[in-house]
Amino acid sequence: MLYSAFRSFMFSLDPETAHHLTLNLAKLSPVLGKISGIPREEKFSFHLGSVRWTFPIGLAAGLDKNAEALSFFEAQGFGALECGTVTLRAQEGNPRPRIFRYKDEESLRNAMGFPNRGLQDILPRIKNYQGQVPLGINMGKNKESSTQKSIEELSTIFEKMGPYADYFVINVSSPNTPGLRALQEKEYLSELFAELTSKSIKKDLFLKIAPDLSREKILELKKLAVEYQLTGIIATNTTIMADKGEGGISGKLLAQRSREVRSLLLQEQTELEIIAAGGIFSPQDLFEFWAQGGKAGQVYTSYIYRGPALLKNFHRSINSFLTQQSMNLEEFFSLPIKERQLRLKEYHP
Ligand code: FNR
Repeated sequence: MLYSAFRSFMFSLDPETAHHLTLNLAKLSPVLGKISGIPREEKFSFHLGSVRWTFPIGLAAGLDKNAEALSFFEAQGFGALECGTVTLRAQEGNPRPRIFRYKDEESLRNAMGFPNRGLQDILPRIKNYQGQVPLGINMGKNKESSTQKSIEELSTIFEKMGPYADYFVINVSSPNTPGLRALQEKEYLSELFAELTSKSIKKDLFLKIAPDLSREKILELKKLAVEYQLTGIIATNTTIMADKGEGGISGKLLAQRSREVRSLLLQEQTELEIIAAGGIFSPQDLFEFWAQGGKAGQVYTSYIYRGPALLKNFHRSINSFLTQQSMNLEEFFSLPIKERQLRLKEYHP
């Protein structure tokens, strides 16, 4: 109720103005985050790679790009927080307006182009983060940087932030930096993975992919991620819909495409962890992903449209499911897929 009034006001503003205003409020009032959030309980925690998530819904990259309101999002009850995309040097991003709402479809379009304050500014906040919820760093190249230079840039971010974060994400899938998606090429990624995995800092590493790739390309990237022993793949970033204009679409309009990519990635089980991003709105979306072998999802657009009620809804359903199963989440995830499917099928809320 409270959020719907808040949302009505925010939706009367330009989306980016609303975004900054909300983030500033969040920064100032972690207590508000706690009051409107969900409780953190041991039964919801589980391992994903070497990191212990505290709840199976995490905050997707892009919402807290500069790691300014981590305490608020932690207090809301997200199971992992991903900040960024962080680039080596600060950059402005594309000209405004660059976020657009499709209210009826609970979707957004953004053409941000990685506006962020850069490594030096963001690093102290990452160092100061004392939270219990794991922290991920989503990293990307500066707009003007060449392909070759970008390997150095990502490598520097990884080294400098490595000691203070729990996992890293390579973002080569935003549609808003010219030429970025070309970095999803095998030769480039092989070189980048070789560079990052050769570092003395060992941290879980994910590749975030676009939903607009061919089937062959998705399977090629999966194979490459397995070969270089990455922790996993985040599927997916936003999708291009040319008829809607520049940028990437997120939310309900992305859901189907994103789901197809995840199904393909999970068709043959490997050691890779797949994190679901793209149109995750309901517990049913998550349960469907669990039935395929996934564990955790991330949200951005559904959280904008639904607010704290989104997490409460996930919390209620997951709690009810686990209670019926007399299990905690770690135990559920350790079941063979067939057993998972059976239990999810038999579950009646
Ligand atoms: C994003 N997303 C994003 N992803 C990323 O890796 N780096 C980024 O900087 C951003 N920035 C960003 C800004 C805005 C305004 C939106 C809406 C999205 C993509 C996001 O993390 C996620 O992958 C997609 O939005 C799909 O999830 P949802 O929004 O459908 O839950």
